[in-house]
Amino acid sequence: MNSDRLRVTPYAPQVGAWIEGIDLAAPIDEAMMKTMRKALADHGVIFFRDQHLSPEQHIAFARRWAPIDINRFFKATDTHPEIAEVRKEPGQKTNIGGGWHTDHSYDLEPAMGSILLAREVPPMGGDTLFASMGAAFEALSPGLQETLRGMRAVHSSRHVFGAQAGYAKLADADGRIGNPDKVLPDVVHPVVLRHPDSGREVLYVNPAFTTRFDGWTERESQGLLQTLYQHAARPEFTCRFTWQEGSIAFWDNRATWHYALNDYHGERRLMHRITVRGSGLEGSHWLSGE
Ligand code: SIN
Repeated sequence: MNSDRLRVTPYAPQVGAWIEGIDLAAPIDEAMMKTMRKALADHGVIFFRDQHLSPEQHIAFARRWAPIDINRFFKATDTHPEIAEVRKEPGQKTNIGGGWHTDHSYDLEPAMGSILLAREVPPMGGDTLFASMGAAFEALSPGLQETLRGMRAVHSSRHVFGAQAGYAKLADADGRIGNPDKVLPDVVHPVVLRHPDSGREVLYVNPAFTTRFDGWTERESQGLLQTLYQHAARPEFTCRFTWQEGSIAFWDNRATWHYALNDYHGERRLMHRITVRGSGLEGSHWLSGE
């Protein structure tokens, strides 16, 4: 049974907070939800320890935030289509999410958040990095900020999840990522978002899914995109989370990037991920004419 002992403690100066004094398997009242919503808005990602939830409890917790947005490319658990597996077996070399990205930015209405629960972790390694896109945007010059506010960018899943792309060509991704036929047309999102909960301006491009600026060619876009990526990944905007079985990281996809480190070859790592729905972003639309 939860009481009123919920505590929020910053984890790193720019991104992340611990949430302690709560059992996510027990009833959670509205006051606790309000505290956690504020912590997520303020810090971009919230971390929990020792939450050994059943799949049903994981799903019930996710539904307290928003309807579930099922990822169409990840293999789900055998029993619960709402839960995506993020798995790497001892014999596999590639991991899932091993580069800076934000989930579902290729969707017209990107998932608001992802709730990742550690089921099995390697004895060492397999940490996840997070980066604050609010801190990154605020550290740019006023001139570049103003330019970016007027820009839009194209996001795509084709080159990552499509039939001719990354995961489809990797023999050892087989069984973990699939459905290349579920790739949808590319979408256009603003480069700078006003975050609906924090009111903060955030940079909304990412190295995995953003392919170019709207109205620019890929070649023309590369220089500025790479400048933004190098800037946004600066260590001072990031934190690094070390998992234990039962740890949860719940990140806001509109405010952060994340990066799953792949430094544990020969060991097993199994995570369960639920993505929850977001509201549409102002000014987003399907890319027309392609
Ligand atoms: C992901 O990119 O969603 C997975 C992150 C992780 O496994 O740490």
